[in-house]
Amino acid sequence: MKEKIEKIQAEINAYTIENTANLEAFRIQFIGSKGSVKELFNDLKAVPNEEKRAIGQLLNALRIEAEDKYNLFKAQLETTASATSKLDFSRPGDNNEIGAHHPLSLVRSEIISIFSKIGYSVSEGPEIEDDWHNFSALNFAPEHPARDMQDTFFIEKGENEMALRTHTSSVQVRVMENSTPPIRTISPGRVYRNEAISARAHCFFHQVEGLYIDKNVSFADLKQTLLYFAKELFGEKAQIRLRPSYFPFTEPSAEVDVSCSICNAKGCNVCKYSGWLEILGCGMVDPNVLEASGIDSTVYSGFAFGMGVERITQLKYKVNDLRLYSENDVRFLKQFKAGI
Ligand code: PHE
Repeated sequence: MKEKIEKIQAEINAYTIENTANLEAFRIQFIGSKGSVKELFNDLKAVPNEEKRAIGQLLNALRIEAEDKYNLFKAQLETTASATSKLDFSRPGDNNEIGAHHPLSLVRSEIISIFSKIGYSVSEGPEIEDDWHNFSALNFAPEHPARDMQDTFFIEKGENEMALRTHTSSVQVRVMENSTPPIRTISPGRVYRNEAISARAHCFFHQVEGLYIDKNVSFADLKQTLLYFAKELFGEKAQIRLRPSYFPFTEPSAEVDVSCSICNAKGCNVCKYSGWLEILGCGMVDPNVLEASGIDSTVYSGFAFGMGVERITQLKYKVNDLRLYSENDVRFLKQFKAGI
């Protein structure tokens, strides 16, 4: 009897069920009213009384095993059947359009990667700023007309004067206040100015400003850094020129032009037939700014520069209307897929 049970158990284990026909055949062969497990139960009558209990237990276990296997495969076959019956294989597939990075994001990432190669970290700060970080610490005297250079959106006037930052130089003040030189950092971010919206001006735009402070930093270091940047961004042939300028926070200050990459500096309507394009402002950090942020100006010197991301993007991608960047027109945005 024991051997019979083991033989049928082996048969149950070896039985492969792949479809509903197999499943039904399995049921008939083993658990149906004429199945082999049932037959074994009939044979139990002939077993001597003292063995009945042990054999009965074996038989029960066998029956449960067979039923479990049956139920398991039945459930499996039912779920695959219902899943496939709901699928319509003749339907055309979904066309999942891949998005594109915004052109300003592409250019910002490129600028960050160019400066990270020469050891600049990225620092960020708040868009709503106090007067100290946006103006006073940067050597803007209280009634100085230079504050008008940057038409400010004020949020609160008076004692707790808060404003939308007009440049990310404010972030650099925060970095100087919270760290000790050497400092080498760039601060990308959105800035706001109260200007009428047109093709050439907007009430918000993006900047990347850079700051380098250490012992013995010179104007030559600044020029070399900017030349490296221009060549990385616009190609090996790019040249730069510096024109004297004024910013309250740098002395001396300069504006930087890059040779026009559109006409190879021959002269075109983008560079107004000059061969040069203005791309950024820069200068040696004014000692007053260093002192305001707690840096000893007798020990340290440094340079700073700042550029508009929209301006660089305009030159790289020949976009000539600033409004396109914030209108979310898919026809404009999808042209930048290749940049991913
Ligand atoms: N903060 C200046 C601006 O917004 C740019 C700048 C930065 C100029 C650093 C010189 C040095 O126009």
